[in-house]
Amino acid sequence: MRKIRVAVLGYGHLGKWHCQKVDAHKDVAEFVAIVEKFAPNKAAAKAAHPHVAVVEDVREVLGRIDAAVVVTPTSTHFDLVRHLMESGKHVFCEKPLCSNDAEAQTLRKVAEGRSTVLQIGHSERFHQAWEQLGQKLKGLSAPFTVRINRVAPFKGRATDVDVVQDLAIHDLDLIMHLFSKAPKKVLATGQKIRTQNWDHASIHLELEDNCHAFIDVSRNHVKELRDLEVVSKDGTLLVDLFANKILEAPAGQFPDGTFVKEEPYPKRDHLLIEHQHFYESILKDGPAIVGLAAGANAVHLVDCTLRSLAQGIPVDVRLHG
Ligand SMILES: NC(=O)c1ccc[n+]([C@@H]2O[C@H](COP(=O)([O-])OP(=O)(O)OC[C@H]3O[C@@H](n4cnc5c(N)ncnc54)[C@H](O)[C@@H]3O)[C@@H](O)[C@H]2O)c1
Repeated sequence: MRKIRVAVLGYGHLGKWHCQKVDAHKDVAEFVAIVEKFAPNKAAAKAAHPHVAVVEDVREVLGRIDAAVVVTPTSTHFDLVRHLMESGKHVFCEKPLCSNDAEAQTLRKVAEGRSTVLQIGHSERFHQAWEQLGQKLKGLSAPFTVRINRVAPFKGRATDVDVVQDLAIHDLDLIMHLFSKAPKKVLATGQKIRTQNWDHASIHLELEDNCHAFIDVSRNHVKELRDLEVVSKDGTLLVDLFANKILEAPAGQFPDGTFVKEEPYPKRDHLLIEHQHFYESILKDGPAIVGLAAGANAVHLVDCTLRSLAQGIPVDVRLHG
């Protein structure tokens, strides 16, 4: 079997880790090239991967690759993904798929009739907790309320985009992925504290059947929190995504008389799992684990949130199939 020839585009903060995951799949993937424009990062890529070609433009290696992993800044995703798809390459693009709805619609058109894989890096889907709780969350009876925190002190990263594109997109995708009630309306407020972009956002998603989700994202918080809580008539469930724990308070009490149960779940290497899925989809000619429709819908919810932030009004959601 011929191996899948892979290039990684972008050797920045996350690109380094993607390169390790390509290396970890030597049985199916041949690591052909790293594409990086910034001289210090190029030098770091050469030092860490002496047997891999390091070039400045993907066009230099297009004829020698079957697949590309896009880990460049968000503003570059649309052009790169479009070019790679039009060139017949399989693509694993980090989240977000692109910067706005119009770009997502163009990519949908470009994808029509193509059988190559396009996978989007919505890595938060790969917590083991979701496998354990999947059926329970999907089967929750209405009404229920979801509360999500994804806040951290300022680290100076991803300031080219706002917290909605950088952080909330994970949670907007999780809401669509984990629950059976689709978003109908978005109302958001926010603050620009350290950058020209939104550094904090509080997002209210009205879901079907009188269900609601409240998402708080910030890059200017006093401590780091990453959790998802669901409250329904059956009780409360909290997944601490940072401490890898599930906490549950049923409507009544547990047989031993306690009111709250806490259970750890194993931490997993999400990026490794995503790479496994990517190569499997290519080899088996199967669908991507997180494909274009999911990526485009997440971008749509980001767009709705940004419009609501800018105008201070609720915005209707129109998801695509
Ligand atoms: N899934 C996640 O949880 C997660 C986490 C972090 C970052 N990301 C995503 O990964 C992407 C990259 O983030 P980062 O933190 O690594 O950014 P970064 O700025 O640290 O790295 C980006 C790199 O891409 C290079 N680059 C820019 N344009 C290029 C081009 N046209 N061709 C090749 N290289 C180019 C830059 O020089 C830089 O080295 C972003 O889209 C971000 O949203 C996802």
